[in-house]
Amino acid sequence: MNKFKQADLGTPAVAASATVKVEIDGLPATVKAGTSILRAARESGVDVPSLCASDSLKPFGSCRMCLVEIEGRKGYPASCTTPVEAGMKIRTQTEALATLRRNVMELYISDHPLDCLTCSANGDCELQDVAGAVGLREVRYGFEGENHLDAEIDASNPYFSFDASKCIVCSRCVRACDEVQGTFALTIEGRGFESKVSASIGETFLDSECVSCGACIQACPTATLMEKTVIDHGQPEHSVKTTCAYCGVGCSFIAEMKGDQVIRMVPDKDGQANHGHSCVKGRFAWGYSTHRDRVMDPLIRDSIDEPWRKVSWDEAIQYAARRFKEIQKEYGRKSIGGITSSRCTNEEVFVVQKLVRAAMGNNNVDTCARVCHSPTGYGLRTTLGTSAGTQPFDSVLDADVIVIIGANPTVAHPVFASQMKRRLREGANLIVLDPRQTEIVRSARIEADYHLPLMPGTNVPMINAFAYVIVSEGLIAEDYVRERCDTDSFDAWKTMVLKPENAPEKVADITGVPAADIRAAARLYGEAKNGAIYYGLGVTEHSQGSTMVMGMANLAMATGNIGRSGVGVNPLRGQNNVQGSCDMGSFPHELPGYRPVQDDEVRGKFENHWGVTLDPEPGYRIPNMFDAACAGKYKGMYIQGEDLAQSDPNTHHVEAALSSMECIVVQDLFLNETAKFAHVFLPGTSFLEKDGTFINAERRINRVRPVMKARQGKDEWVITQELANAMGYPMKYDNAAQIMDEIAELTPTFTNVSFEFLDRVGSVQWPCNEKAPMGTPIMHIDNFVRGKGLFVETDYVPTEERANRKFPLLLTTGRILSQYNVGAQTRRTENMVWYDADLLEVHPSDAEMRGIKEGDLVALSSRKGEIALVATITDRVQPGVVYTTFHNPETGANVVTTEHSDWATDCPEYKVTAVQITPAMHRTDWQKGFDENAERQARFLETAE
Ligand code: SF4
Ligand code: SF4
Ligand code: SF4
Ligand code: FES
Repeated sequence: MNKFKQADLGTPAVAASATVKVEIDGLPATVKAGTSILRAARESGVDVPSLCASDSLKPFGSCRMCLVEIEGRKGYPASCTTPVEAGMKIRTQTEALATLRRNVMELYISDHPLDCLTCSANGDCELQDVAGAVGLREVRYGFEGENHLDAEIDASNPYFSFDASKCIVCSRCVRACDEVQGTFALTIEGRGFESKVSASIGETFLDSECVSCGACIQACPTATLMEKTVIDHGQPEHSVKTTCAYCGVGCSFIAEMKGDQVIRMVPDKDGQANHGHSCVKGRFAWGYSTHRDRVMDPLIRDSIDEPWRKVSWDEAIQYAARRFKEIQKEYGRKSIGGITSSRCTNEEVFVVQKLVRAAMGNNNVDTCARVCHSPTGYGLRTTLGTSAGTQPFDSVLDADVIVIIGANPTVAHPVFASQMKRRLREGANLIVLDPRQTEIVRSARIEADYHLPLMPGTNVPMINAFAYVIVSEGLIAEDYVRERCDTDSFDAWKTMVLKPENAPEKVADITGVPAADIRAAARLYGEAKNGAIYYGLGVTEHSQGSTMVMGMANLAMATGNIGRSGVGVNPLRGQNNVQGSCDMGSFPHELPGYRPVQDDEVRGKFENHWGVTLDPEPGYRIPNMFDAACAGKYKGMYIQGEDLAQSDPNTHHVEAALSSMECIVVQDLFLNETAKFAHVFLPGTSFLEKDGTFINAERRINRVRPVMKARQGKDEWVITQELANAMGYPMKYDNAAQIMDEIAELTPTFTNVSFEFLDRVGSVQWPCNEKAPMGTPIMHIDNFVRGKGLFVETDYVPTEERANRKFPLLLTTGRILSQYNVGAQTRRTENMVWYDADLLEVHPSDAEMRGIKEGDLVALSSRKGEIALVATITDRVQPGVVYTTFHNPETGANVVTTEHSDWATDCPEYKVTAVQITPAMHRTDWQKGFDENAERQARFLETAE
């Protein structure tokens, strides 16, 4: 028995509140009505053998191992498919049952290789456990007859193998793929002896629809589906619970270890965000942490045209501190600043913003949320009073109508998408607003009721048209609005909404979506018992991103869809800790907890605690930093785990800004694109080495625990602390827990939080304080955080980025499942097998018009620049729209994006760029320059002494 395997109660828990009393093996038991006998027995501490059952799957009743006797009933019913009834007297262990179970087991084993000692699952195999439990001692049928022992192994997937000779056809994998993951990639092909598991009708796993989530491996009771790392290295010997460091779902994992080697990452059944599920990234793509590209020595150089020099930690830190102080002396206090990382822990982020404020003496701190969800912060805070989503993920299971706007959850938030798909299969309606036909619009057993493929840049007129229908057709939740919202602002909003230009018939011309579809979709949401909005960067990364966020909040308030389970306005936040990095005071105008730096009282509290006078003026946002750098006023920057050179728009401008600076300090795992402009490189730690917390998209504070020591020798918060000390500001924490204690002391929404508390209770959602000691899953239940919900008028102001004859197409960008953001991590894993270069999606009609065929190299040009990349022809995009990802630096997708940005927050307008595409023969000048510089910088690193 695997000592790390989490208990499996055989069948899922039932929701009933009523209980019944039964007797199991002579002992009384009280269980929830409707519970299976198998689960009732296991809950009472009685183990009944099983093979086809799992508490993450619906009962199936095929293996016949779980048979029981029930007093007064004939036969031997399967306990997994038989619910308890009041007064039932159940026997799980009798001579007859033992014989039956042994006979069934004998049949299984007669067609199973008896190589237990050399099997990769030895010690972690339910078949082995059950054979032992039923007392099987001999197999009478021999192996000379027909069997499956020579069945081929499918090792096509880079992370797991499928050894059909060990399969007992229990169907757990098929059901896990259907019920848990929702991909329906597996089937049982054939009947009787011929039956076998098949991936997408006879394909290899790699070629099939499988998305490598790992749910089938998790479910498999034998070694048939097995992680290759276990096959290669054997069973783990200890385990540590931690949190995935990829996306904002924040899945909890159990890192199963051998010494300091990770053997596998197993999704945690107790994880409140993932309930035992995972995606390919968290489950498998962690190899980057030990990749040979990781830089392990601190590096310095005087100029970016010089080779690096390897130095001691002390020398690197002293050098950075000296350069920063010299720059401040020459160019002024505000000539330097820092960037915090949404991939780092809250504790690491907190000390960086503290370093900027207390040691650098200004508020020049910003974070990557600037370029993703800053409009969420602004929009939700203005309307509802808090800069975060309103619901826990589980809330989706109570939603009747799900509206997805500008988000692609199956690739960007896969585990939450599986939960959402489950609810859709149960019958919830789906509306998708997206220029592109994302996978969730039409996938296995799911078909959106309405997909509104609006033109990029037209979200605001679309949400106004929804509001027009809801107001004009009397779908307002009048009582809710009267009791809970600011009615003056509501009246003003209503007047704005009813302007003739917001009628669907007018908006159809702007968005390209037929008015009838807009009306029908708006009615569906407006009439829903529980309507839930989920949105992503397709909402925020626009010149009217903040307007759109407020437009959605208006709509949710007007229809009474905030403040209970199944409703809400929910940002699907991108990076693992983007919520936390914002919460920790990473914005130039806000101290931790979103409190304005201009507020004397708030600032006073921090000044007292930190023993320093703080600057009351907000600092530079990232775009201001670049502009000030180009103007010669901003000269030094400490960049924690953020690749500005690849991720920020208008690469030419970013590169000009970075090259003009005198001291850039990059703290990261790899020599990333920004590090090519750096003068000091401080090696960072991967999530496997971190001790701290991440906060996911549902405000859940999850513990991140180190499974190994910092491989480069220093925790990241220690590096920042030493830099602060070297700059003359004393910082002294002994461990990361003390940093969280300070966060809790200074931030009212975190008052109750500490490592000790989280280790004791698991995870909690903030606010977690005296008013909500165990956290707050649903926000705004009785009142909005700001008091009365505020409606904000959302007039449409078209973006200045327009298509014209020279640039007739609109480019929009997004992600793919196997890669993550700038790809620094996933490009250094086997995930490359699925997607190793950014592709440009082009509609067949646009391609034909330009003589472009599948696989052709095309030049993509905008007003800002030109890149070349390979085209793929698809009707996923509509005519007039092209789409690409931005995972590979050598593609340079941001060479073409513009400096247009959200009016309130400066979040770049990545989602709308007017472009032209033409057939190309070679890479562009920028790309050739990139290749040359990449080679030169790699040499500078290789020759570092
Ligand atoms: S692969 Fe595993 S889970 Fe799937 S049917 Fe075979 S033994 Fe059962
Ligand atoms: S890895 Fe996931 S998607 Fe692939 S077959 Fe298994 S359950 Fe299905
Ligand atoms: S869904 Fe997100 S948090 Fe969960 S395993 Fe995948 S990448 Fe990690
Ligand atoms: S566990 Fe009940 S029939 Fe398989």
